[in-house]
Amino acid sequence: MSPLSTYDSLYDLLADTDLAPWIDPLRATVAPAILDSNNGHLDKWLTAIEALPTPIHSSASAGALAKEESFTLHSSLTSPAIQIGQPQDLDTAQAANLPDTLHQFRPWRKGPFNFFGTHIDTEWRSDLKWDRLLSGISDLKDRLVLDIGCGSGYHCWRMAGAGAKLALGTDPFLLYVMQYLAVRKYLTEPPVWVLPFGIEGLPPALPAFDTVFSMGILYHRRSPIDHLYELRNYLRPGGELVLETIVVDGPHGYSLVPDQYYAKMKNVWFIPTVETLVQWVRRCRYKDIKVIDVSTTTIQEQRSTDWMVFESLKDFLDPSDPTKTIEGYPAPKRAVITATAP
Ligand SMILES: C[S@@+](CC[C@H](N)C(=O)[O-])C[C@H]1O[C@@H](n2cnc3c(N)ncnc32)[C@H](O)[C@@H]1O
Repeated sequence: MSPLSTYDSLYDLLADTDLAPWIDPLRATVAPAILDSNNGHLDKWLTAIEALPTPIHSSASAGALAKEESFTLHSSLTSPAIQIGQPQDLDTAQAANLPDTLHQFRPWRKGPFNFFGTHIDTEWRSDLKWDRLLSGISDLKDRLVLDIGCGSGYHCWRMAGAGAKLALGTDPFLLYVMQYLAVRKYLTEPPVWVLPFGIEGLPPALPAFDTVFSMGILYHRRSPIDHLYELRNYLRPGGELVLETIVVDGPHGYSLVPDQYYAKMKNVWFIPTVETLVQWVRRCRYKDIKVIDVSTTTIQEQRSTDWMVFESLKDFLDPSDPTKTIEGYPAPKRAVITATAP
């Protein structure tokens, strides 16, 4: 069965929601966004998804050999690593081959994940961000949730673990969609889908979501105010925005526009102070704005690993002064704020 058939169950779920008018346009765009992408790695990724092993034992059946159709994988969407099965679900040969198959999806940036005992130590400990924000946001139980720029979908799995009725991510980077589909091969039940396009691929207005996340996106937008207005278009009245972005210290009204690179990223445009960020959100007529966390990013949270072998935060900081980026700007510090759509 094609891994893309997983989107059929998304359309079924949407049919009972205010998002139903979106079903036909989505149907027409999801598969082409993947299959017609001209991405030279696509065949390799689809082959690797196919090659991911079929479990032989059901760990939930107390060690008994389960019939194929009655498999219940032990999984967890509430642990720091999204847990898919257990080591005893695979035979020796399958277990030996699994790391190579999962390496086909490198670099793994957002996670961690654990496939049958193979721990994918991603560049980011995305669980730490989740832990910082969860107690400050509205309970996700039964909510329709949109996560703009969701990467591998790690946080979407955690949203489902927190009880969301729908955790819908979007990301234009095809590798991350493939990482989602690799997890999805096993975790077929949770209401989690990652759409293969960016915010531009969403309808201009779809004010039906209860919570919209925009995390790690705002500083990449050339027009942050337009982004905040855009996000409002997806929230129902009274819905909650969860916004996470890099901030700096500075005087009233300040926002840093890096000369060219910031922490070796060339697509960083505006880095406000927390106060400026709140002001932007207020100017866009959100209400009940709360700053729920401000934390400096550490090299324990973002680092190179076997699963992401390229440079990471340590290489983006001044070796003689880690409070500065290599370009001399303040090192990354991130704020999370919540706000209510009018
Ligand atoms: C810094 S990462 C943040 C990932 C995740 N939200 C998190 O907080 O860990 C930014 C993500 O935005 C995605 N992205 C890039 N352009 C985008 C766009 N136009 N619309 C939505 N997402 C985009 C990237 O592929 C990447 O996965």
